[in-house]
Amino acid sequence: MDMQAYQLAADTVRQRLGTAEIGIVLGSGLGDFADRLTEAESLPYAEIPGFPVSTVAGHAGLWWRGRLGGHTVFLMQGRVHAYEGLGLEAVTMYVRVMRLLGVKTLILTNAAGCVNTEWKPGDLMLLRDFINYSGRNPLIGPNLDAFGPRFPDMSEAYSRRLAEICRTQAEKLGIALREGVYTWFNGPCYETPAEIRMVRILGADAVGMSTVPETIVARHCGMEVLGLSCLTNMAAGILPQPLNHLEVVEVANRVKEQFSALLTATVEAL
Ligand code: HPA
Repeated sequence: MDMQAYQLAADTVRQRLGTAEIGIVLGSGLGDFADRLTEAESLPYAEIPGFPVSTVAGHAGLWWRGRLGGHTVFLMQGRVHAYEGLGLEAVTMYVRVMRLLGVKTLILTNAAGCVNTEWKPGDLMLLRDFINYSGRNPLIGPNLDAFGPRFPDMSEAYSRRLAEICRTQAEKLGIALREGVYTWFNGPCYETPAEIRMVRILGADAVGMSTVPETIVARHCGMEVLGLSCLTNMAAGILPQPLNHLEVVEVANRVKEQFSALLTATVEAL
């Protein structure tokens, strides 16, 4: 994808919705958060030139702009995942389009499996760092210098400043907030028990199939990133039961009030 393709998409979003300084992405089961926006307007992904459309149930495919906590925000209701086979450029396209439209702060949310055995499904986790276990990277290919350097620094993938703001808001709201390392697997199958034991040894607290490619592209173009996981299930092999997507969506739905309150308070405090 060249600069022109990003510009074309950005022009469409600008004309139809306008600009914003904060971007929010909603993970599986968390899409209802879009209801929290006021003065909200939306644009179907399908109407944005070159934009990929998700095939996963529970991902609406709408680019929103509205007001939240005193700020104008973009909100992505539904994301495409690497496992859908569209390529990581497509998966992360919205990040660069947001950058062209003025976004400096990106809040990425997801549903994730819980690797840390001291925690439980329904817990919320702030991402402190990630492990890229996919063997892939969205920046492979010619570097677009207009966005960022060939060898971007990842020593602070998730902003300590934003994490502190979120932590403070969680305390104020009385929400227990975990903090840990998120490991990205390609999916679409869930991990094996052996893989989960392996990443626990390597330092992972959570696993999932998203968020990391977007984080990499956002850091490349100089955005500050906040990552928030809803731990929807104990990862494979921890409990004597199989994993399924329905459970993921149900648990995410169960904690969406808490999740929404924390997200709103965090944006308000930015
Ligand atoms: N593994 C990977 N991705 C996930 C999981 C999981 O256990 N739960 C929700 N997303």
